[in-house]
Amino acid sequence: MKSQEVRKKFLAFFESKQHTIVPSAPMVLKNDPTLMFTNSGMAPFKEYFLGNATPKNSRISDTQKCLRVSGKHNDLEEVGYDTYHHTMFEMLGNWSFGDYFKKEAISWAWELLTKVYGIDKDILYVTVFEGDKEDGTKMDMEAYDLWKTHIAEDRILKGNKKDNFWEMGEQGPCGPCSEIHVDIRSANEKAKVDGKSLVNMDHPQVVEIWNLVFMQYNRKANGSLEELPAKHIDTGMGFERLCMVLQDVQSNYDTDVFTPLIREIETITNVAYGKDEKVDIAIRVIADHVRAVAFAIADGQLPSNNGAGYVIRRILRRAIRYGFTFLNKKEPFIYKLAETLSHQMGDAFPEIRKQDSLVNNVIKEEEASFLRTLDQGLLLLDKVIETTKGKTISGSKAFELYDTYGFPLDLTQLIAREKGFSINEDEFASEMKKQKDRSRSASASETGDWVTVLEDEIEEFVGYDTLKVDVKLTRYRKVTTKKDGDQYQLVFNMTPFYPEGGGQVGDKGYLETSNGDVIHILDTKKENNVIIHFAKNLPKNLSETYKAVVNDEFRNLSASNHTATHLLHQALRTILGTHVEQKGSLVSPDYLRFDFSHFSKVEKEQLNEIEEFVNARIRENIPLTERRNIPMQQAIDEGAIALFGEKYGDSVRAIKFGQSMELCGGTHVQQTGDIWYFKIKSEGAVASGIRRIEAISNVAVGDYFETIEKDFSEVKQLLKNPKDVAKSVSSLQDENTSLKKQIEQLLKDKAKNLKGDLKSQLQEINGVNFLATKIDLDPNGIKNLMFELGGEVENLFLLFATAPSKEKAMLTCYISKDLANEKGYDAGKVVRELGKYIHGGGGGQNFFATAGGKNPGGIPKVLDKAKEYLS
Ligand code: SER
Repeated sequence: MKSQEVRKKFLAFFESKQHTIVPSAPMVLKNDPTLMFTNSGMAPFKEYFLGNATPKNSRISDTQKCLRVSGKHNDLEEVGYDTYHHTMFEMLGNWSFGDYFKKEAISWAWELLTKVYGIDKDILYVTVFEGDKEDGTKMDMEAYDLWKTHIAEDRILKGNKKDNFWEMGEQGPCGPCSEIHVDIRSANEKAKVDGKSLVNMDHPQVVEIWNLVFMQYNRKANGSLEELPAKHIDTGMGFERLCMVLQDVQSNYDTDVFTPLIREIETITNVAYGKDEKVDIAIRVIADHVRAVAFAIADGQLPSNNGAGYVIRRILRRAIRYGFTFLNKKEPFIYKLAETLSHQMGDAFPEIRKQDSLVNNVIKEEEASFLRTLDQGLLLLDKVIETTKGKTISGSKAFELYDTYGFPLDLTQLIAREKGFSINEDEFASEMKKQKDRSRSASASETGDWVTVLEDEIEEFVGYDTLKVDVKLTRYRKVTTKKDGDQYQLVFNMTPFYPEGGGQVGDKGYLETSNGDVIHILDTKKENNVIIHFAKNLPKNLSETYKAVVNDEFRNLSASNHTATHLLHQALRTILGTHVEQKGSLVSPDYLRFDFSHFSKVEKEQLNEIEEFVNARIRENIPLTERRNIPMQQAIDEGAIALFGEKYGDSVRAIKFGQSMELCGGTHVQQTGDIWYFKIKSEGAVASGIRRIEAISNVAVGDYFETIEKDFSEVKQLLKNPKDVAKSVSSLQDENTSLKKQIEQLLKDKAKNLKGDLKSQLQEINGVNFLATKIDLDPNGIKNLMFELGGEVENLFLLFATAPSKEKAMLTCYISKDLANEKGYDAGKVVRELGKYIHGGGGGQNFFATAGGKNPGGIPKVLDKAKEYLS
C-alpha cells in the first residue's frame, strides 16, 4: 500500500466514525512559551485538553507534522543510527474531547489495523498501564478488559509509568496509555526469541506503532494528580512506521516516504545506499533532516541564531556535516532535495509546494555559509594541532572550536585521528557541562499551580472596543525566574489587554483596586488560549472588582504601526509583486519590522515608491472595516490574505482598509489618517530570499525628523553655514583626497631618505650586516623598508623597534633568507625572546617576525641585547 493511500485510509476511517478531519497545524508553534514545536498530534489541541477553549467538534482526526528535537521529547541524536526514529514525522491521530473514551478508542484502533489495513493480529502486541505506587495510580483494568475482547491475553503486556503513562509536559493533562506494537521479524527470528520479551526494548523490528492515551488526570506543580472533569482520548500513530509494516519492509527508510529522497541523494553524491554502514547513516540523516528543515521553513521558521530558528539551523548543520564527512560533499547539495520533497508531499501538505523556491534558497545559503565555517574550522584545527605538545588535543580547545565555530566534536575527533591525535574528551565534557549549567541557571524558572479565585468564568477579550473595563480575577499563579524574580500571572473574567500575538507586542497598563491601590500590568501574553497578565504584585483583596486600564498611548502607537504594517504589505505586493509574502513581523509602539519573501534588494526608488504608496493611503483617511468571527473560507474567498501557520479553530477576523484585507487578530487605528505619516528607516537581507523593512509611523516620525534636523543644523554650523551644504561637504572631501595624496608622497620620500640613512648605519659583524634601531614608521612601512633593504644588501640582520604610543611597543626582525636557513638564525625566536623586555610576545617565520608589547621603556634593552644573537 502506497504511503499516500495509508494516509487517506486513516482519515477516511475516522471520518466514517463521525470525526471532523482537519489539516495539520504548523510544526512551529506560536503563543506557547512551554513548547517550541508541535511534538505530537495533540499539541495543537492543548487548549481543549486544558479546558481553556471548547472545540467546535468533539471528535477530530488528522495527520500532524511533528518535530521531536527539543525539550521533553528529543530524538535528534538517535536519528540516522536506527531505522525508526525521526526528527520530523507524521502522527496520525484521533481525538475525543469529552466524547467517547477507552471502549471506542480501543475497538476502532483494532478495527482499523486488522480489518482496514489487514495487519495480521499475530504480529501485534498491546500494553496497558500497571499502575504506580508513587502517584497512587492503579493498574488500568478497564483497558485490559477491553483489549481482552480483541486479542489473546498473552499478547497484552503490562507496562510501567515510563512507557504507559503519557504526559505532555511537567504539568497539565495526562493519563495511562495503551501502546500497540508490531513484531515484523522473520519466522526464524521469532522462533529463536519470543517477541514479548522485545517489546519496548529498542529492537528495530519490534516497535511501537500507535499510542492510545486516556487523558483522565491533571498533573499539578507539586507533582500530584487530580482527576480531570472531562475525560479525553488522544491517540497518535507513527505514519512512517505504519508504512513500514504495510509495505512489508524492515526500515522506515525503505518505505516510499523516504526512498525517493534516498535515490536522489545517491544520484547527487554518487554513492550507493546499503553498502557501507557509515554512508548509510549519513544518507538517513540527510533524508530525515531535510524534511524537518524544509517543513519548518515552509511553516515560516527560518534558521537563525536563537530559539526555534537555532534548533532548525542545528538540524540542518548536522545533515551538512554528515554529508561533508561521510559523503565527501564539500559543496551545497541538500537544497536540491527540496524539489523531490515537494513532489512527494505537496498533495498532503500544500505549503511545501507553495514555498519550494524559498525552501530551496534558504537551505542553499545555509549550506554555503556552514561549509565556509567548516573550512575556517579546519584551518583553526590545523593551528591547534601545530601548537599541541604531545598527541592529545586539549578538550577546552576542542570545545572552543565547537562553541565558537560550530565545529562538532566528532568531526574534530575524526580529523585529529587522521593526523594521529586524540581529544581530551573528559575536558571537553566538563566544558560542555559548565556551559549547560550556565544557561540552565540563567533560564531556570519555577511555575506554581493555578489558584482558582472564581469558578466557571470564561475569559472574554473586550480590548477591540474598550481600553478600560471592570474585571474580576478568576485565577492566578506565581512564577519565579532568575531574570525577573517573583512575578504573578493573572487571569480575569474579561480583559481589555491585548496579548502579544500576530507580531504585535502585548499591552501594558494597570489595575486599580477599590481603595485606590495600583497594580501595574507589565506585559500580556496568551498561553494555550488564555490571556495572562504579568504583574509584580497581587492585589490585596482577590475577590473584589478592579478597574483594568490599558495604557492608551502604548496601545494607540502599536495600533498605528499595525495598520501601517498592513498598508506596507499591500504596497510591497503592489509595487514588487504578489510573490511577496509575509515571513515575520514585529509591531511595537516604537517601530515596526516586516520580513517578506523577495529575491533581490529593494532599490532606493522602489522604497520611495512604497513609502509614498502608504502615505497616500494615510492621506486618504480610509476607515477601518472590521469583521469578527467569519468563516475562514469566506474571508479568503473575499480576498483576505491569510498566512500559512494558522491552525484549525483559530477565530477569524478580517481587517480591511480599502483594498488591503488581511486575517488579523491585532489592534488597528479607526482610520488611516490616525497614522499621520509613515517612514521607512532601513531595508536589508535576513536570509536568502527574505528581506526586512524597518519603519516608523506617527509621533516616532516627528522625533525622527527632529533628530535629523538637529544633526543637519550642527553640520551646517560646523561648515560655517554655507548656502549649499552638499557642495561644501563635497569640496571638503576633494581637499581631503588631495592632502592624503601629498602625505603619501611625503612618506615615500621620507622612507627613501630613511633607507639611505639606515644603510649607512649597518655594521658588519662576523660577516653579517647588522642594525638594531628605533624608528618611527607604521608596521607596513617597516615591512616594506626591510624587504627593500634585503633586496639591496646581502646577509642582513635587522631589528627595528617602534613605540606608536606610550603603552605600545613593537619589534620587527628581518633576516636574509639564506642567512636564516644556512646559519640557523631565527627571527621568530629573536622577537619572542626580546619581546619579554617590552612585556609582550609574538612570532613569525625564521626570516621575518614581529612582536607587540606594552612597555616602550624596554626598547633600549632590546636594542642592546639584539647584538648577542650574532655571536
Ligand atoms: N500524545 C500521544 C503521543 O504523542 C498520543 O498522541 O504519543
